[in-house]
This record gives sequence, C-alpha cells and structure tokens, in this order.
Amino acid sequence: MKDFDPLKSFVGEVAEHNDDIPRGDEDETVRLLAELSDGEPALELAVGSGRIAIPLAARGVSVDGIELSDDMIAVLQRRPGGDRVRVFPGDMTIVSTGQTYPLVFLVFNSIFNLLTQDDQVRCFENAARHLTGDGVFLVEAAVPSAWTQRDQYVNAESVQVDHVVLDVCRYDPVTQILDENHVHLDHGGVRLRPISCRLAWPAELDLMARLAGLHLRQRWGGWQRESFDAGSSRHVSLYSRS
Ligand SMILES: C[S@@+](CC[C@H](N)C(=O)[O-])C[C@H]1O[C@@H](n2cnc3c(N)ncnc32)[C@H](O)[C@@H]1O
Repeated sequence: MKDFDPLKSFVGEVAEHNDDIPRGDEDETVRLLAELSDGEPALELAVGSGRIAIPLAARGVSVDGIELSDDMIAVLQRRPGGDRVRVFPGDMTIVSTGQTYPLVFLVFNSIFNLLTQDDQVRCFENAARHLTGDGVFLVEAAVPSAWTQRDQYVNAESVQVDHVVLDVCRYDPVTQILDENHVHLDHGGVRLRPISCRLAWPAELDLMARLAGLHLRQRWGGWQRESFDAGSSRHVSLYSRS
C-alpha cells in the first residue's frame, strides 16, 4: 500500500480503542502461557497494550515486553496492572532487554507486522538471543490460506444501524503482503485504518527458526492444544534450541 508507514499503524485512535473489542481468546492464551512459564519470567515481543501481558503478570509471572508504538505503551501503562509489566520501547527485531527468559512469545499474528522476510528472520534471531539454554519461543499466527484464496475481498466486519465497518483487502502473492483497510462509516463520516502485513505459512516460519538456531518442538491448532491439521486456521508453535 503506497505510503503505508508501519510506525503509524498503532498510534492515536487505533491505540486508544485497541482493547474496545477483545479478541476473545485471552483466558485460554494466558492459561497456556502461565503453564509454559511455570512461574519463571517471560518476555512478550510486540506487547501492545498488554492484552495478554497484564493478565499473565496478574497470575504471578514476571513479564517484560518490547513494543514499537509509544501510544500502545502509554495505554498499557495506564491500565490497571500495567505497572507490573516492564516495557522496552523499540523494534522487536533488534531491541535487547539485557536478559534471557525461559519463555519468549509473539502472539496475535504480530510476526506478520514485519513487512519483509529479512525482518521476520531478524525477529526469530532476536527471540533466540533472549532465550535461556532450554527456553521456548512461542509464536501464534494465522494460517494464511483463508486470506489468500482470493486476491481481493471486502468483508462486512460490523453492520449496525448507525455504524458499518468494512474490511477491504488485497493480497499480493509475490510479496506475500496483505494490504488491508478497515473503513469505518457512520454519520460523522468515513475513517480509514490501514494496515499491511507480510503473511507467512507455518513451514516458512519453521525455516526462519532454523536460521536462528531453533527447531520446531510442538505445534498446536489453538490455545487449548488442539491438534494442528489441514482444517486449522491458526497455529501455536513452540521453538527451542533442541
Ligand atoms: C496486533 S497488535 C498485538 C499486541 C499484543 N501482542 C496483543 O496480543 O494484543 C501488534 C503490535 O505489534 C506492534 N509492533 C509492530 N511492529 C513492531 C516491531 N517491529 N517491534 C515491536 N512491536 C511492533 C504494534 O505496535 C502493535 O502493538
């Protein structure tokens, strides 16, 4: 999408309203992450407004986060419990917290926010640098098939009497970039919330992990350890050194 600037995609109104409609998988996500962390510290890459980090910290896990958007960090820090999450501002492909963790995680398709294969590889490498010797890097992302069957589509995301949200998308199979614009229509006018993502299938992520010295240890089809199969729309994958 010409002129799309990733630095502007999670700022202002978008950051303010990021948590208005929860994704709905928070409880099961936090439950599995708490089990995997086993009481040890954890690091979330692209921690956002703390949707997962804050409830995970409330369960007694010491959680650090790396986040690019100052506005998302501001929202996190003013939420109840936000003061329990230590945030390191900056790019998750390079920022270091200066320590290692038994669990590093990157959820909600956030690996796709990195718009080149190189950056996605660098993100795996940075995650690996933050892992203890037997630590685990967990990645949760969609299986792109549902988005890529057509090269473009419009999805009626919300249809209300006084408010409509259309999801307008175009996918380029050469770059694997999905350009998406959430178009909000109401009596106040039209508001555009653009985002571009670089989609990657699980197998490509597995190779990125290998480049970073990690191997796929486990793959589930969801947060409740569902089996991963041809019908899975997302995956929860665990990578480790051995
Ligand atoms: C879909 S949100 C997910 C936030 C949070 N992980 C959650 O599950 O609610 C994606 C987040 O990734 C952040 N982000 C995008 N690119 C980033 C980068 N290069 N380094 C760090 N954070 C980044 C955005 O600012 C945004 O907060």
